[in-house]
Amino acid sequence: KESSTVSITVVGASGDLAKKKIFPALFALYYEGCLPKHFTVFGYARSKMTDAELRTMVSKTLTCRIDKRENCDEKMDQFLERCFYHPGQYDSEENFLELDKKLKVHEGGRVANRLFYLSIPPNIFIDAVKCASTSASSANGWTRVIVEKPFGRDSESSAALTRSLKQYLDEDQIFRIDHYLGKELVENLSVLRFSNLIFEPLWSRQYIRNVQFIFAEDFGTEGRGGYFDNYGIIRDIMQNHLLQILALFAMETPVSLDAEDIRNEKVKVLRSMRPLRLDDVVTGQYKSHTRGGVKYPAYTDDKTVPNDSLTPTFAAAALFIDNARWDGVPFLMKAGKALHDRRAEIRVQFRHVPGNLYNKNFGTDLDLATNELVIRVQPDEAIYLKINNKVPGLGMRLDRSNLNLLYAARYSKEIPDAYERLLLDAIEGERRLFIRSDELDAAWSLFTPVLKQLEEKKIVPEYYPYGSRGPVGSHYLAARYNVRWGDAASDQ
Ligand code: BG6
Repeated sequence: KESSTVSITVVGASGDLAKKKIFPALFALYYEGCLPKHFTVFGYARSKMTDAELRTMVSKTLTCRIDKRENCDEKMDQFLERCFYHPGQYDSEENFLELDKKLKVHEGGRVANRLFYLSIPPNIFIDAVKCASTSASSANGWTRVIVEKPFGRDSESSAALTRSLKQYLDEDQIFRIDHYLGKELVENLSVLRFSNLIFEPLWSRQYIRNVQFIFAEDFGTEGRGGYFDNYGIIRDIMQNHLLQILALFAMETPVSLDAEDIRNEKVKVLRSMRPLRLDDVVTGQYKSHTRGGVKYPAYTDDKTVPNDSLTPTFAAAALFIDNARWDGVPFLMKAGKALHDRRAEIRVQFRHVPGNLYNKNFGTDLDLATNELVIRVQPDEAIYLKINNKVPGLGMRLDRSNLNLLYAARYSKEIPDAYERLLLDAIEGERRLFIRSDELDAAWSLFTPVLKQLEEKKIVPEYYPYGSRGPVGSHYLAARYNVRWGDAASDQ
């Protein structure tokens, strides 16, 4: 290791993702001492920029954790000294050859490992992969490529993308990111299930009534309309982030924690899923809304979005896993932009206690009396279990209470960003949190037919006001399966 070096090239260095996530994550890893002794970061993009200009740009994005202000400025300077820039076209082998030369100088004859982070639009993906692999691959170490979604927009285009990628790279060189897999509570899901005796035995149709995966943002697609309009919320959030969480949630116990064992189990879940029917999907799109004198825009107010766009910014779906463990259990998903709050959570609603002695003490709403486990992925990471409890006093009245693990109260450490974990894993060659191509195929198979029908039948989304709770249609959909969406506001 002493004699090896890692060069990390951020292709698309001036883009939003690079500035918001990649450079800050690399710095955080450096600060924590997680990067190898010899490493270099290269920005690659089309614009003309000097190393100094790149450093200024990057420096504006860096912050230190609240609990680690010590030596922060010094560390930033040291990190920036390792950052360089190379301007070039994404489809120019010549430009990548120039990059290769520069990388070699920094690698100084050591075993050279190279990581390319492709933070660029999908239409130039393949060109960049081709150039990087043919002109800037490492001659004596590993070469890995991190790719970001969109991985196509349906089964066919995704398969075509995979085929093209595999012309230039082996599967084990491709690191497909789903950054939700790098989130602390998503990683913890397996720990919770498999290292606590009390959960795993309950983890089936026998005790679980339904499971909900909820993603909400309280802002719209402002500024990203151009990208978003071609994809919509089902491709943007459900097909990847929520489905990945579902797979981890529902998989059988893997043989080990090895990447292949875990991914094998996830694929099995995805392949056991019942084909999704159009009837089991509700779509919505936000419309403009004025509140407190402020006018919030409609989705179609974005200049880059056609006025008659039917692209959903909200969707809810009822999914089923046709295997022995989950037969008949509704897995509900809900994802939306421009809603009233921002959160991502998993809710597990348990069955009623058979012959519950205390039914009469709950009044009429028996639903309230069932246990519910909530895993709040963000914000304010938490795991809580709603239980029934006797209200102290001489009478016999029950109410609901939370057994509550609030991360901020339990752990004083700031939680690392998902990109930190994923970048570190890619450097270390740990593939557990990256998407294998058969997982990707299975995920697309589930959603592609419905996506096609929505588009071919020009299904009009239900319009909901910016900042609202979203289309009522999602409640009807849930009600059809005897489900009531959990509501964070009523949890306390
Ligand atoms: C991205 C989506 O994958 O995830 C965005 O393309 C979304 O639309 C984002 O806003 C949400 O990520 P996070 O980590 O901010 O919840």
